[in-house]
Order: sequence, then structure tokens, then C-alpha cells
Amino acid sequence: MRLYVNIDHVATLREARKTDEPDPVRAAATAERAGADGITVHLREDRRHIQDADVRALATSLRTVLNLELGAAPEIVRIASRVTPFQATLVPERRREITTEGGLMLRRGDARVATAVRRLANAGIRVSLFIDPDRATIDRAAELRVPAIELHTGRYARTWRKSDAALRALARAAAHARARGLAVHAGHGLTYENVQPVAAIRDIEELNIGHSIVSNAVFWGMEEAVRRMRQLVDDARKA
Ligand code: PXP
Repeated sequence: MRLYVNIDHVATLREARKTDEPDPVRAAATAERAGADGITVHLREDRRHIQDADVRALATSLRTVLNLELGAAPEIVRIASRVTPFQATLVPERRREITTEGGLMLRRGDARVATAVRRLANAGIRVSLFIDPDRATIDRAAELRVPAIELHTGRYARTWRKSDAALRALARAAAHARARGLAVHAGHGLTYENVQPVAAIRDIEELNIGHSIVSNAVFWGMEEAVRRMRQLVDDARKA
């Protein structure tokens, strides 16, 4: 199971003061030392956390791989095509949202996402689509001929204490996507408390986790925060 660490909120803290610390590149190197398989950042149109220069610096400094999250806006797709991260994950993006709220809708005939997929793939980038764990949406992702999808774990993260329905839906969606030939990633809202049941789903091969790791890095340090998440994910996989 690959663990990709999302370091957006290291940049959020820096942007709170518009200064040069904490440095996302340093956070990425620390996460890699602690066992991250990749580093994820979201270059938002509003540039509220990660900046263009961060993406360029990460692309040349990482020992692992860069997973760039982006909306389908042509300007951002152009930047991604120039930087050529290992992987690009297309997400829906609304300006006023606090964080990515839902998965891509992937309506048939929506040329925006299809165009972005084509441009990124033509640049040699592995493309993943962030979608809800829903059978019809997975089928449309497969029609777009992407190699991978990322299942939105937000509903699971909101409801896991009360019910296992969202976990079962994730497992079913992951199995369906694998059967359609898609690599399955997952993320959003995963924490030290709720990560293990998701990490135990065999059809999922990659997790993207940010907010909880950066939050706990305040108390434990970045290296320890990543190490503890790595351990939980690995233990869930062994069980
Ligand atoms: N995956 C995607 C597509 C996201 O947009 C985010 C949030 O930036 C994450 C994973 C990570 O979510 P969290 O910060 O809640 O761990």
C-alpha cells in the first residue's frame, strides 16, 4: 500500500503570514525520510496554499514522486503539462469551498474533464480522477481511459463511528474499479483513528493523506507524524 503525504497545509501555515516558513520542500523531504512513497500537493486556482514555485521546486527535489492535484482549468493544466509530475489527480474545484467537497461528476459530454485528461496524458503524466465511490461514475472514468481513480473517502470519514455502510460502499467501489482495469487510490478525511479499515481494503493501492498528518506534526514533528501513519497503514495491510 503506497502512502502519499499531502503537504498543502504546510503551505497554508506559511501563507497565513506570507513568509518563507514552514517550507513545503523541507516538509516533503522529511515525509520521504519517514516513509512516504510520494508527495501530493494541490495547485488551486486561488493559490491559497501551494504556489507555482513550490510545484516547480518539488518536481526537481523529490526523491519519490509528485502527485499534483488540480482542477480542469486550462491555465492549471498548462502548468502541470510543463512541470510533468509523475501523476496528476483531477479534482473538482470551487472557489469558496474550504476543501475539495465532492468527487468529479463526470457527466457524459463534459468536454472540460475529457480535454484535461487528454492534455495531461499527452504530456506523459499518469492521470487519476478523484470521484465518489459510485458505480456509474467509475464506469465513466473507465470510458475516459485513465489508468487510475481516487475514491473520495469523505462520507466514510464523516460516518465511520456510527455505521460501516460507507466502508462497505468503498470496498464495493474499489472491487468494481479494479474489475474495470483501474488502479484504485483513496483519500480525504483519513485520520490516525479511521485509516486502518480503508488501508485493509486490498483493492486499494494508494492513500493520500494530508490534514491529519500535518495537524499532528504540530505536536509530534513531521517525521514522527508520517512514521506513525506509515505504521498504521502497514499494520492494517498485514492483518
Ligand atoms: N485526496 C484529494 C483528491 C484531496 O483533494 C485531498 C485534500 O486536499 C486529499 C486527498 C487529502 O485529504 P485530507 O487533507 O483530508 O487528508
